[in-house]
Amino acid sequence: SKSINVAVIPGDGIGPEVIAEAVKVLRAATAAVDTELSLTEYKLGAEHWLATGETLSAETLEQLRSHDAILFGAVGAAPGDTRIPSGLIEREMLLKLRFSLDHYVNLRPSKLYPGVPSPLANPGAIDFVVVREGTEGPYVGNGGALRTGTPHEIATEVSVNTAHGVERLVRDGFRRANERSRKHLTLVHKHNVLVHAGHLWKRTVEAVAAEYPEVTHDYLHVDAAMIFLVTDPSRFDVIVTDNLFGDIITDLAAAVTGGIGLAASGNINMDHTAPSMFEPVHGSAPDIAGQQKADPTAAILSAALLLQHLGLAGQAARIEQAVEHDVATRAGATRTTAEIGDAIAAAVS
Ligand code: NAD
Ligand code: IPM
Ligand code: MN
Repeated sequence: SKSINVAVIPGDGIGPEVIAEAVKVLRAATAAVDTELSLTEYKLGAEHWLATGETLSAETLEQLRSHDAILFGAVGAAPGDTRIPSGLIEREMLLKLRFSLDHYVNLRPSKLYPGVPSPLANPGAIDFVVVREGTEGPYVGNGGALRTGTPHEIATEVSVNTAHGVERLVRDGFRRANERSRKHLTLVHKHNVLVHAGHLWKRTVEAVAAEYPEVTHDYLHVDAAMIFLVTDPSRFDVIVTDNLFGDIITDLAAAVTGGIGLAASGNINMDHTAPSMFEPVHGSAPDIAGQQKADPTAAILSAALLLQHLGLAGQAARIEQAVEHDVATRAGATRTTAEIGDAIAAAVS
């Protein structure tokens, strides 16, 4: 029988609460097909840094590399927490993992499941996937500051876009569009202002499109795309976009499809040169942490993406079906994080 070896990083805030439920479901889904699941927990995040001073050591990174995949909860301190510099854990741990393990495809599906209330009056059928670039853009961290604290301060964050990085991401978007029924790809950028990066993206889409004659494609400036995400979200099938636009688009996409508690993601190394990492789109939600109020569905759907990536597509689909059933029957009920996890785990066993 098959065996899979997963590193688990629960993190901070609601991270451990939602990951406990995702692990329950992962255990049930693998046991049902006689797949041996080996889990190793890594304590990383803001609390771990406060206790040990480690953000992500070279040694821990090497240990993480030895796993087939990583299941990640959320990290980050509460906004008012002055003990932890803002961005320290996000940059030195989470982004360091995405960059070091070459997670260039940040895959974020958005689907409005039947029976799930949307804040939109007429949502229509929403089912698209955002293919967000994961290793470049303004996230690279090569900005700088001059004359800090003076009236002449200059602060820059430089967006890095390489031909190699844009092409592999766009190619992945077309590949995914080609596998979907509508076969449509939308590039979202802002080439009317960000002309250098924007034109690299646009040229790359035109070039790769020639290899996918069945896939139609269009372009939207990111500001207008946000209008359509609210007024006509069913027009989208596959969106390709850069790292920062993708971050913002996917929180709005989550909101229109029933909330951030349902939004899953994969940070995927499509070349399989390092383990991919699966995590809910949301953060550590300090406002509701420790109260069993967090919705574990996003983490559970992220575990499904993990199984799909490791070749267990049947069990991934089973989890998605269990979620689809669970969310359809939620209206009015208030359940704890663990009760939701128990119900979904029972349905996949
Ligand atoms: P957040 O996603 O943590 O929370 C935004 C809002 O959504 C909050 O009201 C929260 O209660 C709610 N929410 C989030 N997840 C939920 C769930 N599963 N069920 C129900 N409600 C949920 O975003 P934020 O408040 O901007 O960030 C908090 C911290 O998390 C910050 O330190 C930030 O840097 C970090 N963060 C980490 C990640 C990550 O680890 N991938 C992602 C985003 C933010
Ligand atoms: C996300 C988060 C991260 C991002 C932060 C915490 C670095 O917002 O996963 O969406 O911006 O990618
Ligand atoms: Mn985000």
